[in-house]
Amino acid sequence: MATTKVSSDIKDAALADRGRVRIEWSEQQMPVLRLIRRRFAKEKPLQGLRLGACLHVTTETANLMVTLKEGGAEVALCASNPLSTQDDNAASLVRDFGVPVFAIRGEDKDTYYAHITAVLDTKPHFSMDDGCDLVTTVHTQRKDALDALRGGTEETTTGVIRLRSMAQQGVLGYPIISINDAHTKFLFDNRFGTGQSTLDGIIRATNLLIAGLKMVVAGYGWCGRGIANRARGLGAHVIVVEVEPTRALEAVMEGFAVLPMAEAAKVGDVFVTATGDRDVLRQEHFQAMKSGAVLANSGHFNVEIDLPALEKLARSKRATRDNVDEFVLKDGRKLYLLGEGRLVNLAAAEGHPAAVMDMSFANQALSLEYLAKNAEKLEKKVHPVPVEIDKQVARLKLEAMGIRIDTLTPEQEKYLASWSEGT
Ligand code: ADE
Repeated sequence: MATTKVSSDIKDAALADRGRVRIEWSEQQMPVLRLIRRRFAKEKPLQGLRLGACLHVTTETANLMVTLKEGGAEVALCASNPLSTQDDNAASLVRDFGVPVFAIRGEDKDTYYAHITAVLDTKPHFSMDDGCDLVTTVHTQRKDALDALRGGTEETTTGVIRLRSMAQQGVLGYPIISINDAHTKFLFDNRFGTGQSTLDGIIRATNLLIAGLKMVVAGYGWCGRGIANRARGLGAHVIVVEVEPTRALEAVMEGFAVLPMAEAAKVGDVFVTATGDRDVLRQEHFQAMKSGAVLANSGHFNVEIDLPALEKLARSKRATRDNVDEFVLKDGRKLYLLGEGRLVNLAAAEGHPAAVMDMSFANQALSLEYLAKNAEKLEKKVHPVPVEIDKQVARLKLEAMGIRIDTLTPEQEKYLASWSEGT
């Protein structure tokens, strides 16, 4: 791809060589996105459009950015979390693919928002968000950006919850497609992606032997299910904590122990939060935990573990390993916090594997193509990914995996469409 010099704010341009080979590695695992990229290069469905993306700056996102550029779009990218940026990847995106990137791993809050602002300064027609920080900024600090914005996409559960609340209050300024609600997204990315990458983050940070540990998983949504299952697969004794009765019942019948956090806190070795809510682990729980307990969060924001309460209980804090902070409490017990309480799979590992982001980002690319044609007709609310796109992603993924499936016979089709045949 021919590139021109672009303005950007990244850690170190000299990291680009390493970033480039890692982007190529991910590309190999993203056959559906590759197919879309090839078609986009010919058809240019996004010609003349400006896209502003606030996503985790990973090698998988790099492949999405390149696909959108091939489709004719101008793209600008900032981070959707201060700790998820892969700096080598950012450097390669700028140097090798001409994508303006505003993201530095470890950036402070002001820089994080300055980077969102830099993307909005490009006056995007469409936004792509992961957690809704860009959309929130548009609707609070940068209402001027609404003039150009025609539509957007949202990647994740947390973001969709915020958007629905905006739509309900009548303040959402343009239509947004919820990528998260596509079956080919949440059934795979949230479950298998979060499941594997969360365990990956915990293991890379701590090198703990998971077998035999008591792992407490808070939240039994699609992410929590994935984490609980992968932890069980590695031999952990998994305890699920839930507030929703049906989900709790499902966890029980899947064979997990289910306890209130007040009980789980006393016995857990490793705690993982994946609820989307705040203060899931708080003072009363820290006070009950065993010395040596490890605390990790896999939810989008760093609010699930009450960090101010942990700081207040501690008499000292020090970094022990990469992404591991040791808090010594006033009574001498030690608690270990991973990745500053930010999403552990991206802070301490590389996020979801490319093979699963292949489907999530295929939904993103195809939904943007859909928005380019249809945004004007859509109400200013949250819309699902069109079913045909969802099915197409599933079909293409199966094809890429070399897996064939059956089709219904005409008699079977007719039977399913009728109501008169019974016993
Ligand atoms: N969210 C979770 N994993 C991710 C990844 N690898 N790339 C972009 N967004 C992600």
